[in-house]
Amino acid sequence: MRMVDLIEKKRNGEVLSESEIHFIINGYTNDEIPDYQMSAWAMAVFFQDMNDKERADLTMAMVKSGEEIDLSAVEGIKVDKHSTGGVGDKTTIALAPLVASLGVPVAKMSGRGLGHTGGTLDKLESIPGFHIELTTQEFIDKVNENKLAVIGQTGNLTPADKKLYGLRDVTGTVNSIPLIASSIMSKKLASGADGIVLDVKTGTGAFMKELSDSKELAQAMVKIGTKLGKKTMAVISDMNQPLGLAVGNALEVKEAIAMLKGEGPEDVLELCLTLGSHMVVMAKKANSVDEAREALQEAITSGKAIATLKTFIEAQGGDSSVVDDLSTFPEAPFKIEVKAQSEGMVKSIEADRIGTAAMMLGAGRATKDDDILLDVGLILHKKIGDAVKKGDTLVTLHSRTEQAAEVEAIVQKAYEVANEHIEAPTLIYEEITASSGTGFVL
Ligand code: URA
Repeated sequence: MRMVDLIEKKRNGEVLSESEIHFIINGYTNDEIPDYQMSAWAMAVFFQDMNDKERADLTMAMVKSGEEIDLSAVEGIKVDKHSTGGVGDKTTIALAPLVASLGVPVAKMSGRGLGHTGGTLDKLESIPGFHIELTTQEFIDKVNENKLAVIGQTGNLTPADKKLYGLRDVTGTVNSIPLIASSIMSKKLASGADGIVLDVKTGTGAFMKELSDSKELAQAMVKIGTKLGKKTMAVISDMNQPLGLAVGNALEVKEAIAMLKGEGPEDVLELCLTLGSHMVVMAKKANSVDEAREALQEAITSGKAIATLKTFIEAQGGDSSVVDDLSTFPEAPFKIEVKAQSEGMVKSIEADRIGTAAMMLGAGRATKDDDILLDVGLILHKKIGDAVKKGDTLVTLHSRTEQAAEVEAIVQKAYEVANEHIEAPTLIYEEITASSGTGFVL
């Protein structure tokens, strides 16, 4: 087999076989295929697409390029959740203990990541004493004992994806549905879950800005997961404004805790109940999503969810008293209020700009070696559809510096206040399941 022939085959819109796809991925991982040929092939895929079988074959080839996590020693059906990412997305921190409190085993492998705030691991480390350095055996034992444990990424998972994603980033080939879907799904499949619930974001602050693109990506990932024998479904949720009110590391953990106490923002709760009920059904801990939703709500009101969170924190060396006394979280020294300059209703909040503001305050990292601050960030006081008077506080900045004029200006730019009636946006647009085919509108 020669790479040049396979590039031409794809360029001409033909279908690649399983062995041809494995040849490409193995060759690239082993440095036998150079970047210039792989770039040409990725561009051919960008323009000519891949059919469902090619997409599944590509995903599997990337899974097989590295180690796979074996979670067979964890009792029960392991269901993982993945979000395509957005601003203020603290869902994992609230959702993991919530579903674990109903007996769903959550063996979560999380990353630090780049972006507006740290990843789930960074956020959890704002809890005094909490650590994620567990051996594989400790990790498995803790999931079996408490139904929940979180560990940093171990091993050499999907090296082909790592290499190809880096190449796509600089060759204009990121935005390709088969390449994105196989990239995300290969990482999920290599992490050893039996079932996968995907939260595909849509809107100005999301990777996919248009609902039609988000739907296409969701359908592609559900088809890949299903074809490869994993129960997979996707929820398409709104990212036209940040999720919840808090953006920042400790601030988001505090909001997730508030949600588990039944005191969190409505949108965070709704998203967790929607995603969580599908996870609970997949794990066979309820017979229907309605039954699961009711059980999740009961876990919040009875205190079962918050008790699971405390046990989980203690099991990983953390001080669980922070859950009862949120004032023990790291707190930024300066609070700066950004005020509304006109009266009306909030028409839009550009999530991207809010993310940039959080990053400028120090909440996120631009390169993997950057340090991040756990205490800084923003609290939104107004969301889309809220009425505002001139001088009302739109956002409070939690800052390490007394002045943050540049950040204030960005937040002002993020908000549009209009003199007209504005409805709050829809939170959940669609649910895509293997049997729904094209997905069904709720
Ligand atoms: N996230 C991923 O993991 N891969 C992509 O290709 C795009 C977003």
